[in-house]
Amino acid sequence: MKAAAIAPSNIALVKYWGKRNEKLILPQNSSISMTLDNLFTTTTVEFSPNYPHDGLEISGQRIFGEELGKVSRHLDIIRKLGKTKLCARVVSENNFPKAAGLASSASGFAALTLAATAALGLKLGKKELSIIARQGSGSACRSFDSGFSEWEMGKKKDGTDSFAKQIADELHWKELAMVVLVLTTKEKNVKSRAGMKQTVENCPYYPAWLKTIEADLKNMRKAIKTRDFTLLGKTAELNALKMHATMHTTTPPIIYWEPETIALMKEVLAMREEGIECYFTIDGGPQVKVLCQDKDVQRIEARLKATAGVQRTIVCHAGRGARLAGKHLF
Ligand code: PMV
Repeated sequence: MKAAAIAPSNIALVKYWGKRNEKLILPQNSSISMTLDNLFTTTTVEFSPNYPHDGLEISGQRIFGEELGKVSRHLDIIRKLGKTKLCARVVSENNFPKAAGLASSASGFAALTLAATAALGLKLGKKELSIIARQGSGSACRSFDSGFSEWEMGKKKDGTDSFAKQIADELHWKELAMVVLVLTTKEKNVKSRAGMKQTVENCPYYPAWLKTIEADLKNMRKAIKTRDFTLLGKTAELNALKMHATMHTTTPPIIYWEPETIALMKEVLAMREEGIECYFTIDGGPQVKVLCQDKDVQRIEARLKATAGVQRTIVCHAGRGARLAGKHLF
């Protein structure tokens, strides 16, 4: 009744922003991501008649309220599958700041899904795990694949065809690096769930964003398959800017960028002008992630580290998907 799992974070290269079904978390568009080797969550789940209610601890802190509610509702889906009513203790650790745009919900819900299903003795395949994790946090469905993953939006109303599939494994493109820059460890004030809903409802450019996605997906699949760094970088950077344009033009506006975010974007553009090829991508937070190639990584990291406001840099490569862990956290 107890199991532990480790799940990586993933960063979208073609982003998901908006749902067509809030409850099942069915997206408005497909998305493509890179699984990261150096950002991850480790989680132990134990179901027991000794627990009167579900309990949650993240990085040594007991969590209550809405965050615990979300985890409990996710456990309900898994309890139903495992035919049990037992409550659980969930202990989780991130090796990076949570809820600041570094995809902690992706690694968190992927680790929770794998640990909780294993604790109940359910032996599920990657597809089933992806479908369950998706209902906790959309991006979590992409954390089961090693390397590069595409979350196919699906067409069915019940969401059984909305899950992630691998595009290429983690050994396919070893020279591709992502430098993650941590600007602030403050939790964001607009959660992606609320931000997306509002954007779909009232951003006048939302339909235009959706119209460009198919071409971005096609270019991204090609860039990954042929290891075309320029195509990957250009497609990812423009895609991120288009997503943020929909956030900026919803009412009230959602601006995740801090002054340091913009300074870093400009630094990336300046390096490119100087012939150092790199591209940025940004999610629902102020953090900037820079795509580059191993041959340039040291130069780029040193330069970005020297930019005001950068607290920490984490160099990542494509990594392994979620897996069971041998060691428990309690
Ligand atoms: O699934 P969520 O709630 O973590 O939302 C993810 C949204 C973005 O990170 C902005 C884009 C993405 O596809 O990961």
